[in-house]
Amino acid sequence: MNYRTFQLTGEKISLLGFGAMRLPVIDGDHTRVDEQEAIAMIRKAIDSGVNYVDTGFPYHGGKSEVAVGKALKDGYREKVLLADKFPLFSAKSPEDVDSLFEKQMERLDTDFIDMYLLHNINKAHLKVMKACNVLPQIEKKRDEGRIKHIGFSFHDELPLFKEVIDSYPWAFCQIQLNYMDVNFQAGLEGLKYAASKGIPVVIMEPLKGGKLTDSVPDEIQRLWDGAAVKRSPAEWAFRWVADFPEVLTILSGMSTMEQLDENLSILSAAEASSLTIDEKALIKDVSDAYNRITPYSCTSCRYCMPCASGVNIPESIQFRNDWEVYNHNDKLTDNFNMFFPRTERPSNCVECGQCEEKCPQSLSIIKALSETTVIFEQAS
Ligand SMILES: NC(=O)c1ccc[n+]([C@@H]2O[C@H](COP(=O)([O-])OP(=O)(O)OC[C@H]3O[C@@H](n4cnc5c(N)ncnc54)[C@H](OP(=O)(O)O)[C@@H]3O)[C@@H](O)[C@H]2O)c1
Repeated sequence: MNYRTFQLTGEKISLLGFGAMRLPVIDGDHTRVDEQEAIAMIRKAIDSGVNYVDTGFPYHGGKSEVAVGKALKDGYREKVLLADKFPLFSAKSPEDVDSLFEKQMERLDTDFIDMYLLHNINKAHLKVMKACNVLPQIEKKRDEGRIKHIGFSFHDELPLFKEVIDSYPWAFCQIQLNYMDVNFQAGLEGLKYAASKGIPVVIMEPLKGGKLTDSVPDEIQRLWDGAAVKRSPAEWAFRWVADFPEVLTILSGMSTMEQLDENLSILSAAEASSLTIDEKALIKDVSDAYNRITPYSCTSCRYCMPCASGVNIPESIQFRNDWEVYNHNDKLTDNFNMFFPRTERPSNCVECGQCEEKCPQSLSIIKALSETTVIFEQAS
Protein backbone atom coordinates (compact mmCIF):
# COMPACT_ATOMS: atom_id res chain seq x y z
CA MET A 1 0.00 0.00 0.00
CA ASN A 2 1.12 3.54 -0.73
CA TYR A 3 1.01 6.04 2.13
CA ARG A 4 0.85 9.83 2.26
CA THR A 5 1.72 12.00 5.23
CA PHE A 6 -0.88 13.81 7.32
CA GLN A 7 1.31 16.85 7.94
CA LEU A 8 -0.47 17.88 11.14
CA THR A 9 0.63 14.76 13.02
CA GLY A 10 3.20 13.15 10.73
CA GLU A 11 1.01 10.02 10.53
CA LYS A 12 1.20 7.94 7.35
CA ILE A 13 -2.23 7.45 5.82
CA SER A 14 -2.99 4.74 3.26
CA LEU A 15 -3.74 6.03 -0.23
CA LEU A 16 -6.80 3.76 -0.31
CA GLY A 17 -9.35 4.63 2.35
CA PHE A 18 -12.35 2.37 3.04
CA GLY A 19 -15.59 4.26 2.36
CA ALA A 20 -18.38 2.49 4.26
CA MET A 21 -21.28 3.96 2.29
CA ARG A 22 -21.64 1.09 -0.18
CA LEU A 23 -21.16 -1.99 1.97
CA PRO A 24 -22.48 -5.36 0.74
CA VAL A 25 -26.20 -5.69 1.56
CA ILE A 26 -28.74 -8.49 1.81
CA ASP A 27 -31.43 -8.88 -0.90
CA GLY A 28 -30.56 -5.49 -2.39
CA ASP A 29 -31.97 -3.78 0.72
CA HIS A 30 -29.76 -0.77 1.40
CA THR A 31 -30.55 -0.83 5.11
CA ARG A 32 -29.63 -4.52 5.60
CA VAL A 33 -25.85 -4.62 5.63
CA ASP A 34 -24.35 -8.07 5.14
CA GLU A 35 -22.34 -7.63 8.35
CA GLN A 36 -20.36 -10.84 8.04
CA GLU A 37 -19.09 -9.92 4.58
CA ALA A 38 -18.65 -6.22 5.43
CA ILE A 39 -16.59 -7.06 8.52
CA ALA A 40 -14.47 -9.52 6.52
CA MET A 41 -13.84 -6.85 3.86
CA ILE A 42 -12.95 -4.08 6.31
CA ARG A 43 -10.60 -6.38 8.24
CA LYS A 44 -8.97 -7.67 5.06
CA ALA A 45 -8.43 -4.05 3.95
CA ILE A 46 -6.78 -3.25 7.29
CA ASP A 47 -4.67 -6.42 7.21
CA SER A 48 -3.53 -5.30 3.75
CA GLY A 49 -2.40 -1.87 4.95
CA VAL A 50 -5.53 0.34 4.79
CA ASN A 51 -5.62 2.56 7.87
CA TYR A 52 -8.42 5.04 7.12
CA VAL A 53 -12.10 4.06 7.42
CA ASP A 54 -14.88 6.54 6.63
CA THR A 55 -18.50 6.20 7.72
CA GLY A 56 -21.46 8.55 8.17
CA PHE A 57 -24.63 8.84 10.27
CA PRO A 58 -27.10 8.21 7.40
CA TYR A 59 -25.14 5.52 5.54
CA HIS A 60 -27.16 2.32 5.19
CA GLY A 61 -29.85 3.86 7.42
CA GLY A 62 -27.42 3.96 10.37
CA LYS A 63 -26.19 0.39 9.89
CA SER A 64 -22.84 1.44 8.42
CA GLU A 65 -21.66 2.91 11.73
CA VAL A 66 -22.73 -0.27 13.50
CA ALA A 67 -20.94 -2.56 11.01
CA VAL A 68 -17.79 -0.42 11.14
CA GLY A 69 -17.87 -0.50 14.95
CA LYS A 70 -18.07 -4.30 14.90
CA ALA A 71 -15.32 -4.62 12.27
CA LEU A 72 -13.02 -2.53 14.46
CA LYS A 73 -13.27 -4.88 17.46
CA ASP A 74 -10.56 -7.46 18.25
CA GLY A 75 -7.67 -4.99 18.03
CA TYR A 76 -8.58 -3.39 14.69
CA ARG A 77 -9.68 -0.03 16.16
CA GLU A 78 -6.10 0.84 17.14
CA LYS A 79 -4.89 0.24 13.58
CA VAL A 80 -7.00 2.89 11.84
CA LEU A 81 -8.01 6.49 11.75
CA LEU A 82 -11.79 6.36 12.07
CA ALA A 83 -13.70 9.09 10.21
CA ASP A 84 -17.36 9.90 10.93
CA LYS A 85 -19.52 12.93 10.20
CA PHE A 86 -21.85 15.19 12.13
CA PRO A 87 -25.20 15.09 10.28
CA LEU A 88 -25.94 18.80 9.87
CA PHE A 89 -29.15 17.85 8.02
CA SER A 90 -30.50 16.13 11.16
CA ALA A 91 -29.80 18.93 13.65
CA LYS A 92 -32.79 21.06 14.62
CA SER A 93 -31.62 22.56 17.94
CA PRO A 94 -28.34 23.04 19.88
CA GLU A 95 -29.26 20.04 22.09
CA ASP A 96 -29.26 17.80 19.01
CA VAL A 97 -25.50 18.14 18.65
CA ASP A 98 -24.87 16.21 21.83
CA SER A 99 -27.58 13.60 21.29
CA LEU A 100 -26.56 12.89 17.68
CA PHE A 101 -22.89 12.62 18.65
CA GLU A 102 -23.70 10.24 21.53
CA LYS A 103 -25.81 8.13 19.18
CA GLN A 104 -22.83 7.83 16.85
CA MET A 105 -20.48 6.86 19.66
CA GLU A 106 -22.99 4.22 20.76
CA ARG A 107 -23.33 2.80 17.24
CA LEU A 108 -19.56 2.79 16.71
CA ASP A 109 -18.98 1.52 20.25
CA THR A 110 -15.77 3.53 20.51
CA ASP A 111 -14.31 6.11 22.90
CA PHE A 112 -13.17 8.59 20.29
CA ILE A 113 -13.38 9.49 16.61
CA ASP A 114 -10.13 10.46 14.87
CA MET A 115 -11.48 12.47 11.95
CA TYR A 116 -14.82 14.19 12.54
CA LEU A 117 -16.38 16.01 9.61
CA LEU A 118 -19.27 18.41 9.41
CA HIS A 119 -21.26 16.49 6.81
CA ASN A 120 -22.00 18.29 3.57
CA ILE A 121 -21.46 21.96 4.37
CA ASN A 122 -23.54 24.13 2.04
CA LYS A 123 -25.40 27.43 2.34
CA ALA A 124 -28.36 25.92 4.22
CA HIS A 125 -26.15 23.88 6.51
CA LEU A 126 -24.02 26.91 7.37
CA LYS A 127 -27.20 28.39 8.87
CA VAL A 128 -27.79 25.18 10.84
CA MET A 129 -24.21 25.32 12.13
CA LYS A 130 -24.84 28.81 13.47
CA ALA A 131 -28.35 28.22 14.83
CA CYS A 132 -27.35 25.00 16.59
CA ASN A 133 -23.99 26.30 17.82
CA VAL A 134 -22.36 23.25 16.24
CA LEU A 135 -18.66 24.11 16.01
CA PRO A 136 -18.16 25.26 19.64
CA GLN A 137 -19.83 22.06 20.86
CA ILE A 138 -17.70 19.90 18.56
CA GLU A 139 -14.57 21.78 19.67
CA LYS A 140 -15.47 21.04 23.29
CA LYS A 141 -15.58 17.32 22.44
CA ARG A 142 -12.21 17.62 20.77
CA ASP A 143 -10.80 19.33 23.88
CA GLU A 144 -12.20 16.45 25.95
CA GLY A 145 -10.34 13.99 23.70
CA ARG A 146 -13.42 12.41 22.11
CA ILE A 147 -12.61 13.85 18.69
CA LYS A 148 -9.10 14.27 17.35
CA HIS A 149 -9.45 16.40 14.23
CA ILE A 150 -12.27 18.56 12.86
CA GLY A 151 -12.92 18.75 9.13
CA PHE A 152 -15.82 19.06 6.68
CA SER A 153 -17.19 17.41 3.58
CA PHE A 154 -18.46 19.43 0.66
CA HIS A 155 -20.75 19.13 -2.40
CA ASP A 156 -21.63 22.77 -3.13
CA GLU A 157 -19.92 25.18 -5.52
CA LEU A 158 -16.31 26.38 -5.69
CA PRO A 159 -16.75 30.00 -4.42
CA LEU A 160 -18.47 28.71 -1.28
CA PHE A 161 -15.79 26.05 -0.86
CA LYS A 162 -13.11 28.75 -0.81
CA GLU A 163 -15.12 30.76 1.73
CA VAL A 164 -15.48 27.72 3.98
CA ILE A 165 -11.79 26.88 3.68
CA ASP A 166 -10.88 30.44 4.69
CA SER A 167 -13.39 30.60 7.55
CA TYR A 168 -11.86 28.16 10.07
CA PRO A 169 -8.59 26.34 10.84
CA TRP A 170 -9.84 22.98 9.50
CA ALA A 171 -7.57 19.98 10.06
CA PHE A 172 -8.74 18.48 6.73
CA CYS A 173 -11.58 18.48 4.23
CA GLN A 174 -13.29 15.99 1.92
CA ILE A 175 -14.36 16.67 -1.67
CA GLN A 176 -15.74 14.75 -4.66
CA LEU A 177 -13.13 14.41 -7.40
CA ASN A 178 -12.72 12.23 -10.48
CA TYR A 179 -11.70 12.89 -14.08
CA MET A 180 -15.29 13.80 -15.04
CA ASP A 181 -15.75 16.30 -12.20
CA VAL A 182 -12.68 18.47 -12.77
CA ASN A 183 -14.83 21.62 -12.85
CA PHE A 184 -17.75 20.37 -10.75
CA GLN A 185 -18.34 21.32 -7.09
CA ALA A 186 -14.94 22.13 -5.48
CA GLY A 187 -13.20 20.35 -8.37
CA LEU A 188 -9.52 20.48 -9.17
CA GLU A 189 -9.28 24.17 -8.33
CA GLY A 190 -10.73 23.41 -4.91
CA LEU A 191 -8.14 20.69 -4.34
CA LYS A 192 -5.31 23.08 -5.20
CA TYR A 193 -6.86 25.88 -3.16
CA ALA A 194 -7.20 23.80 0.00
CA ALA A 195 -3.66 22.47 -0.44
CA SER A 196 -2.31 26.02 -0.90
CA LYS A 197 -3.81 26.83 2.52
CA GLY A 198 -2.18 23.76 4.07
CA ILE A 199 -5.45 21.84 4.42
CA PRO A 200 -5.18 18.14 3.51
CA VAL A 201 -7.82 16.81 1.13
CA VAL A 202 -9.58 13.46 1.33
CA ILE A 203 -11.20 12.40 -1.96
CA MET A 204 -14.63 10.79 -2.27
CA GLU A 205 -16.39 9.37 -5.34
CA PRO A 206 -13.18 8.71 -7.32
CA LEU A 207 -15.19 6.39 -9.64
CA LYS A 208 -18.16 8.81 -9.65
CA GLY A 209 -19.95 6.37 -7.36
CA GLY A 210 -19.30 3.49 -9.80
CA LYS A 211 -20.63 5.28 -12.90
CA LEU A 212 -17.17 5.25 -14.50
CA THR A 213 -16.91 1.49 -14.14
CA ASP A 214 -20.45 0.13 -14.59
CA SER A 215 -21.66 -0.41 -18.14
CA VAL A 216 -18.88 1.49 -19.87
CA PRO A 217 -20.18 2.70 -23.29
CA ASP A 218 -18.52 0.97 -26.29
CA GLU A 219 -17.03 4.22 -27.55
CA ILE A 220 -15.26 4.73 -24.22
CA GLN A 221 -14.11 1.11 -23.95
CA ARG A 222 -12.55 1.37 -27.42
CA LEU A 223 -10.47 4.33 -26.22
CA TRP A 224 -9.26 2.42 -23.15
CA ASP A 225 -8.48 -0.61 -25.32
CA GLY A 226 -6.22 1.56 -27.51
CA ALA A 227 -3.93 2.45 -24.57
CA ALA A 228 -0.34 1.19 -24.63
CA VAL A 229 -0.72 -0.13 -21.06
CA LYS A 230 -3.85 -2.21 -20.38
CA ARG A 231 -5.75 -1.03 -17.31
CA SER A 232 -9.33 -1.42 -16.14
CA PRO A 233 -11.59 1.68 -16.16
CA ALA A 234 -11.33 1.63 -12.35
CA GLU A 235 -7.54 1.70 -12.48
CA TRP A 236 -7.45 4.63 -14.92
CA ALA A 237 -9.87 6.56 -12.70
CA PHE A 238 -7.94 5.87 -9.48
CA ARG A 239 -4.60 6.66 -11.12
CA TRP A 240 -5.94 10.00 -12.33
CA VAL A 241 -6.82 11.00 -8.74
CA ALA A 242 -3.67 9.48 -7.21
CA ASP A 243 -1.53 11.50 -9.60
CA PHE A 244 -2.21 14.68 -7.59
CA PRO A 245 0.26 14.92 -4.70
CA GLU A 246 -2.21 17.21 -2.91
CA VAL A 247 -4.50 14.22 -2.30
CA LEU A 248 -4.16 12.70 1.18
CA THR A 249 -6.26 9.56 0.73
CA ILE A 250 -8.81 8.25 -1.77
CA LEU A 251 -12.01 6.77 -0.37
CA SER A 252 -13.71 4.06 -2.32
CA GLY A 253 -17.02 2.52 -1.34
CA MET A 254 -16.34 -1.10 -2.15
CA SER A 255 -19.24 -3.52 -2.41
CA THR A 256 -17.43 -6.80 -3.09
CA MET A 257 -14.23 -8.56 -2.03
CA GLU A 258 -13.09 -8.55 -5.70
CA GLN A 259 -13.36 -4.76 -5.83
CA LEU A 260 -11.41 -4.50 -2.60
CA ASP A 261 -8.66 -6.76 -3.99
CA GLU A 262 -8.43 -4.76 -7.21
CA ASN A 263 -8.40 -1.41 -5.43
CA LEU A 264 -5.76 -2.58 -2.94
CA SER A 265 -3.55 -3.59 -5.82
CA ILE A 266 -4.17 -0.38 -7.84
CA LEU A 267 -3.46 1.98 -4.96
CA SER A 268 -0.40 0.04 -3.87
CA ALA A 269 1.12 0.77 -7.27
CA ALA A 270 -0.16 4.26 -8.14
CA GLU A 271 2.38 6.98 -7.34
CA ALA A 272 1.84 10.75 -7.40
CA SER A 273 2.91 12.58 -10.57
CA SER A 274 3.47 9.31 -12.41
CA LEU A 275 1.02 9.54 -15.34
CA THR A 276 2.73 10.18 -18.67
CA ILE A 277 1.66 12.96 -21.05
CA ASP A 278 0.11 10.32 -23.35
CA GLU A 279 -1.82 8.76 -20.46
CA LYS A 280 -3.18 12.13 -19.36
CA ALA A 281 -4.18 12.83 -22.97
CA LEU A 282 -6.01 9.49 -23.15
CA ILE A 283 -7.96 10.24 -19.97
CA LYS A 284 -8.85 13.67 -21.39
CA ASP A 285 -10.06 11.96 -24.61
CA VAL A 286 -12.26 9.66 -22.54
CA SER A 287 -13.67 12.56 -20.57
CA ASP A 288 -14.35 14.50 -23.83
CA ALA A 289 -16.06 11.44 -25.31
CA TYR A 290 -18.30 11.13 -22.23
CA ASN A 291 -19.14 14.84 -22.60
CA ARG A 292 -19.92 14.40 -26.34
CA ILE A 293 -22.60 11.84 -25.59
CA THR A 294 -24.15 14.21 -23.06
CA PRO A 295 -27.53 15.42 -24.39
CA TYR A 296 -27.73 18.81 -22.63
CA SER A 297 -24.55 20.89 -22.36
CA CYS A 298 -25.52 22.36 -18.99
CA THR A 299 -22.57 23.90 -17.14
CA SER A 300 -24.45 24.23 -13.82
CA CYS A 301 -23.96 28.01 -13.98
CA ARG A 302 -27.32 28.29 -12.18
CA TYR A 303 -28.41 31.38 -14.13
CA CYS A 304 -31.78 29.58 -14.43
CA MET A 305 -32.21 29.52 -10.67
CA PRO A 306 -34.18 30.08 -8.55
CA CYS A 307 -37.09 28.36 -10.26
CA ALA A 308 -40.49 29.84 -9.29
CA SER A 309 -41.81 26.29 -8.80
CA GLY A 310 -38.87 25.19 -6.69
CA VAL A 311 -37.34 22.81 -9.24
CA ASN A 312 -33.62 22.21 -8.86
CA ILE A 313 -32.98 22.64 -12.58
CA PRO A 314 -29.21 21.94 -12.76
CA GLU A 315 -29.60 18.78 -10.67
CA SER A 316 -32.53 17.57 -12.82
CA ILE A 317 -30.53 18.11 -16.02
CA GLN A 318 -27.56 16.33 -14.48
CA PHE A 319 -29.75 13.26 -13.93
CA ARG A 320 -31.05 13.46 -17.52
CA ASN A 321 -27.49 13.67 -18.88
CA ASP A 322 -26.15 10.91 -16.66
CA TRP A 323 -28.96 8.63 -17.82
CA GLU A 324 -27.58 8.71 -21.39
CA VAL A 325 -23.90 8.91 -20.55
CA TYR A 326 -23.86 6.06 -18.05
CA ASN A 327 -25.95 3.66 -20.12
CA HIS A 328 -29.28 3.90 -18.25
CA ASN A 329 -27.61 2.85 -15.01
CA ASP A 330 -30.18 1.79 -12.37
CA LYS A 331 -28.08 3.38 -9.67
CA LEU A 332 -29.21 6.75 -10.98
CA THR A 333 -32.83 5.86 -10.29
CA ASP A 334 -31.87 4.75 -6.77
CA ASN A 335 -30.00 8.01 -6.22
CA PHE A 336 -32.90 10.05 -7.59
CA ASN A 337 -35.36 8.35 -5.25
CA MET A 338 -33.07 8.47 -2.22
CA PHE A 339 -31.51 11.90 -2.46
CA PHE A 340 -33.67 14.21 -4.62
CA PRO A 341 -36.15 16.13 -2.41
CA ARG A 342 -39.70 15.83 -3.80
CA THR A 343 -40.22 19.61 -3.72
CA GLU A 344 -37.21 20.08 -6.04
CA ARG A 345 -38.03 17.35 -8.56
CA PRO A 346 -38.63 18.20 -12.24
CA SER A 347 -42.29 17.12 -12.12
CA ASN A 348 -42.96 20.40 -10.26
CA CYS A 349 -42.24 22.33 -13.49
CA VAL A 350 -45.24 24.38 -14.72
CA GLU A 351 -43.51 25.25 -18.02
CA CYS A 352 -43.45 29.01 -17.36
CA GLY A 353 -40.28 29.22 -19.47
CA GLN A 354 -38.47 31.82 -17.32
CA CYS A 355 -35.46 29.52 -17.02
CA GLU A 356 -35.05 29.19 -20.78
CA GLU A 357 -34.94 33.00 -21.13
CA LYS A 358 -32.08 33.13 -18.63
CA CYS A 359 -30.03 30.13 -19.87
CA PRO A 360 -26.74 31.32 -21.45
CA GLN A 361 -26.49 27.98 -23.30
CA SER A 362 -30.02 28.39 -24.76
CA LEU A 363 -30.94 24.92 -23.56
CA SER A 364 -34.44 23.48 -24.01
CA ILE A 365 -34.84 23.22 -20.27
CA ILE A 366 -38.58 22.46 -20.28
CA LYS A 367 -37.97 19.50 -22.59
CA ALA A 368 -35.06 18.28 -20.43
CA LEU A 369 -37.19 18.49 -17.27
CA SER A 370 -40.04 16.65 -18.91
CA GLU A 371 -37.70 13.87 -20.08
CA THR A 372 -36.21 13.61 -16.60
CA THR A 373 -39.70 13.30 -15.13
CA VAL A 374 -40.61 10.50 -17.53
CA ILE A 375 -37.37 8.60 -16.88
CA PHE A 376 -37.14 8.90 -13.12
CA GLU A 377 -40.56 9.80 -11.76
CA GLN A 378 -43.07 8.14 -14.05
CA ALA A 379 -41.06 4.94 -14.40
CA SER A 380 -40.61 4.41 -10.65
N1 LIG B 1 -19.40 13.21 2.91
C1 LIG B 1 -20.19 13.01 1.89
O1 LIG B 1 -21.08 13.82 1.63
C2 LIG B 1 -19.98 11.77 1.07
C3 LIG B 1 -20.63 11.60 -0.14
C4 LIG B 1 -20.31 10.53 -0.91
C5 LIG B 1 -19.36 9.62 -0.44
N2 LIG B 1 -18.75 9.77 0.76
C6 LIG B 1 -17.74 8.81 1.27
O2 LIG B 1 -16.78 8.59 0.25
C7 LIG B 1 -16.71 7.19 -0.03
C8 LIG B 1 -16.30 6.98 -1.47
O3 LIG B 1 -17.32 7.43 -2.36
P1 LIG B 1 -18.01 6.36 -3.29
O4 LIG B 1 -18.47 5.22 -2.47
O5 LIG B 1 -18.97 7.09 -4.13
O6 LIG B 1 -16.72 5.87 -4.15
P2 LIG B 1 -16.53 5.36 -5.63
O7 LIG B 1 -15.26 4.57 -5.59
O8 LIG B 1 -16.62 6.48 -6.59
O9 LIG B 1 -17.77 4.41 -5.94
C9 LIG B 1 -17.91 3.18 -5.30
C10 LIG B 1 -18.61 2.21 -6.24
O10 LIG B 1 -17.75 1.99 -7.37
C11 LIG B 1 -17.79 0.64 -7.74
N3 LIG B 1 -16.43 0.08 -7.62
C12 LIG B 1 -15.54 0.20 -6.59
N4 LIG B 1 -14.39 -0.41 -6.89
C13 LIG B 1 -14.54 -0.93 -8.14
C14 LIG B 1 -13.69 -1.67 -8.99
N5 LIG B 1 -12.47 -2.03 -8.65
N6 LIG B 1 -14.18 -2.04 -10.20
C15 LIG B 1 -15.43 -1.71 -10.59
N7 LIG B 1 -16.28 -1.00 -9.82
C16 LIG B 1 -15.85 -0.61 -8.60
C17 LIG B 1 -18.79 -0.06 -6.83
O11 LIG B 1 -20.06 0.03 -7.46
P3 LIG B 1 -20.96 -1.25 -7.84
O12 LIG B 1 -20.34 -2.48 -7.31
O13 LIG B 1 -22.26 -0.97 -7.25
O14 LIG B 1 -20.96 -1.20 -9.31
C18 LIG B 1 -18.82 0.85 -5.62
O15 LIG B 1 -20.04 0.78 -4.94
C19 LIG B 1 -18.10 6.67 0.35
O16 LIG B 1 -18.14 5.28 0.52
C20 LIG B 1 -18.33 7.45 1.63
O17 LIG B 1 -17.61 6.85 2.69
C21 LIG B 1 -19.04 10.84 1.50
